[in-house]
Amino acid sequence: MISKTTIDNVFETARVEEVIGDFVQLKKSGSNYKGLSPFTDERSPSFMVSPVKQIWKDFSSGKGGNVVAFLMEHEHFTYPEAIKYLAKKYAIEIEETQQTSEEKEQANERESLYLVSEFAKNYFHNTLLKTEEGKAIGLSYFKERGFTDETIKKFELGYSPDSWDAFTAHAIKKGYKLEFLEKTGLSIVKDEKQFDRFKGRVMFPILSMSGRTLGFGGRILTSDKKAAKYLNSPESDIYHKSKVLYGIFQAKQSIAKEDNCYLVEGYTDVIQFHQTGIHNVVSSSGTALTAEQIRLINRLTKNITVLFDGDAAGLRASLRGIDLILEQAMNVKICTFPEGEDPDSFARKNSLEELTIYLEENAKDFVTFKASLLANEAKNDPIKKSETIHDMVNSIAKIPDVIKREVYIKECSRIMDISEQVLFNTLAQLLQKDKKEAKKAETPKETFEVIPSEKNIEKVDVQFELEQKIIQLLLLYGNVAEDFEELILEANEKGEISLKPEIHKSRVYEKIYLDLQEDEIEFTNAAFKNVYSEIINRLNQDPEAKPETFINQLPAEMASTVSHLLMEEEKYSLHNWERMEIYVKEKEQTIAQVVSETILNLRRHLVSQKINELSERFKTTENEENSQGLQEIVDYLTLKKVLSEKLNRVL
Ligand code: CTP
Ligand code: MN
Repeated sequence: MISKTTIDNVFETARVEEVIGDFVQLKKSGSNYKGLSPFTDERSPSFMVSPVKQIWKDFSSGKGGNVVAFLMEHEHFTYPEAIKYLAKKYAIEIEETQQTSEEKEQANERESLYLVSEFAKNYFHNTLLKTEEGKAIGLSYFKERGFTDETIKKFELGYSPDSWDAFTAHAIKKGYKLEFLEKTGLSIVKDEKQFDRFKGRVMFPILSMSGRTLGFGGRILTSDKKAAKYLNSPESDIYHKSKVLYGIFQAKQSIAKEDNCYLVEGYTDVIQFHQTGIHNVVSSSGTALTAEQIRLINRLTKNITVLFDGDAAGLRASLRGIDLILEQAMNVKICTFPEGEDPDSFARKNSLEELTIYLEENAKDFVTFKASLLANEAKNDPIKKSETIHDMVNSIAKIPDVIKREVYIKECSRIMDISEQVLFNTLAQLLQKDKKEAKKAETPKETFEVIPSEKNIEKVDVQFELEQKIIQLLLLYGNVAEDFEELILEANEKGEISLKPEIHKSRVYEKIYLDLQEDEIEFTNAAFKNVYSEIINRLNQDPEAKPETFINQLPAEMASTVSHLLMEEEKYSLHNWERMEIYVKEKEQTIAQVVSETILNLRRHLVSQKINELSERFKTTENEENSQGLQEIVDYLTLKKVLSEKLNRVL
């Protein structure tokens, strides 16, 4: 684990505008920066970065957060990956905690494996582009396949010289240890001698989601029938073939943006698609698709389109991968290519437009696809037909979502001309059987929708607005000490009640906390409720703490809520940029007044609600219960009156 000190250090050093500036062109605008949203295609800038608050907000997609949240959204890093990225950018040494010396050694070893792989990638790439042999053999091969220089650079393709130990000898000369060369499989050690594993092959480096070199695929150039066409890095501490997807690094942004991922079989399919202009494509590199690979895609999109080569052989076997996708609650479509074509050859022969149209027209949902398989094989064979139906229902049973399941059962019933009832019964049997496993199978975490879209906000929900306002005040002024005018209820000798003002100095957060607690007010919005108790806790521990110092440390799932709230006020200045006529008048109230007003408004709103509720019940209850109910309503009405009076004073 990365130590807390390192994380703090990273947050203290990293500047959100600098980090985002590496990805988005930002222009200064008042105290903020603005730019075009990197998450949507837009023409007028609605992406804002606040250097003061060290947060960002994308008004077109609703995303927002701190510097780490940006890297997680944009680069699809995990939290530790984002911290490491920042540490590297700002030359901060990463301190790991809770590591035994054994773990430390292991981490060091992994780091060495990464380093030697990175070195090898650059060596192969340079050899391809800069040496005579590389150019004559490797580069001309890639050119023959139609790869441009740009493509070759983008995928950092390479060439490994056709001699026994050219690479290994060079690496050792450069100071890399044989131990790590062997552990990554780049070199093979036999009888005290060392050989290059990838001798005479063109090289496809395999990168992680965050761009680290994990391993290689090497394609043979001769037509030697005995040697494998592709040779891949063996499993190592850094390369697990079941957990990588070729091309994910180059594809991730496009996958998220297009909200779909094309899944192909080979290295060259990925590359040719890119060159044609389709960038949201990855490859499982010839191995059967695994749940871990699907999970990588699941981080980016819920939609996968599997592209199969034209040769139907092995198709049935690959269908298992589809069930794995369905199990992760993802949507899957399948598209095949004409006989004898694979995505590579097809993309090479067609323009981007033709390819796009082909994919759109031929991608089928899995039920339709399985039905079409049968149609090709033996339409009138009842045994085959029933096998296919079973197969379909089996797949449908993998879908976690009940509604989707039902939709597909209906579809299956229609296509295969079999009654829905029978299919539902079969499904029920299967589900019963799978029940135990289904329970074990993880359901992906529902992302927490807290911020209503801008459209929803228009449908003013008073309570939401008020709760939001309170959190906003806490975030902006929580630690500020103010003079609050408390109105104390006083009865004179005649028993008349009046409000007597008293001035109390207190911090904004204390005032809010105590007032809300007095009425036992709970936030109805779950996200606000979490943020609220988190902020109150932090301020209780350190009342002086400026909220902006701990905003960065709030749990990741709160980041979006918080930055949304903080940027709310900035939104006006955003509109300013677009329509200069709009000018928002500065409020002339003091912080204390705004705080009191908001709390009173919320309390009054809740009391009104209570009164409405009671009146409704009052109408429907029997007579004997009435007197008690009535008294309750009267009490609340009195309270509402008091609150209104207090509000009037504040206003
Ligand atoms: N593959 C492999 N080992 C092999 C053959 C194939 O690892 N001996 C993997 C490679 O990742 C390859 C993918 O399976 O990209 C698909 O195989 P295939 O369709 O045979 O190769 P293509 O990608 O079409 O490669 P090429 O066009 O260069 O023949
Ligand atoms: Mn091919």
